[in-house]
Amino acid sequence: MADERVRDDVPTDSIQDKSYGDDVLLDSSQDKSRGDDVPMDSSQDKLYMDAQKYWAAVSPTIDGMLGGFGNISPTDINGSKAFLRPFLKSSGGSVASTYALDCGAGIGRITKRLLLPIFNKVDMVEQDKHFCDTAREFIGSESGRVINIFCSGLQNFKPSKKTYDVIWCQWVLGHLKDDDLIGFFSRCQQALCPGGIIVVKENTVAVGTKAFDDTDSSYTRTKDELKTLMMKADLKVLSIQKQKDFPKSLYPVYMFALR
Ligand SMILES: C[S@@+](CC[C@H](N)C(=O)[O-])C[C@H]1O[C@@H](n2cnc3c(N)ncnc32)[C@H](O)[C@@H]1O
Repeated sequence: MADERVRDDVPTDSIQDKSYGDDVLLDSSQDKSRGDDVPMDSSQDKLYMDAQKYWAAVSPTIDGMLGGFGNISPTDINGSKAFLRPFLKSSGGSVASTYALDCGAGIGRITKRLLLPIFNKVDMVEQDKHFCDTAREFIGSESGRVINIFCSGLQNFKPSKKTYDVIWCQWVLGHLKDDDLIGFFSRCQQALCPGGIIVVKENTVAVGTKAFDDTDSSYTRTKDELKTLMMKADLKVLSIQKQKDFPKSLYPVYMFALR
């Protein structure tokens, strides 16, 4: 999703690979769709349908997930680990290491590199079926600890209550309309175990108001706009940190810990 993360004013030579890799048959007996109690009509929205079309043409690789910036993945994961660590019980915090949820998970880059090394079990939710079907092979030997892969848009997804210690949302919330994001945040809050946290890691625009990218049908919000939506969902911001050492051509990326 290069166009979402790269500032408009900076030229980039990144070329999105539009081709799929070979189809892989996976045991997806545990993989399912959700959306029980949330009205489904928003899935028909043009904003969501355009994003679906965009992601359906993206290759199921780390480079595909990161819009041609696959090389930043280790820096990203290390920054996320450092942000999360102080909240964990093992570091004196309140967050258990039992169960995490990866939202807008793609092929499971974050599940594989960040969440499975820390948590006993992980669920993923991702709207693109091809990414869902590719995830277990991408994750490899530890994929048995991925309990569910929910193939669903976050705007329709209703996580089970009091289930997760960490709910990780990265480079996906710009795909949700404001009202849908507030609803999603509220449902995530109810899905936390006692002591659990939601982590949001997203691009931001430094000034003005949110910018729309019609290539992938997503918004990039300001930090204040994100905070306003979090407050409207009654979430408390515990910590905010800027990701260090990303290329200067990218939007500033911020991590928020919420409860
Ligand atoms: C930039 S990729 C990031 C993937 C992953 N979070 C990572 O950082 O590696 C964005 C992902 O969000 C997914 N996505 C887009 N709109 C979504 C929606 N409404 N609900 C759930 N996932 C969505 C895309 O299919 C894609 O897999």
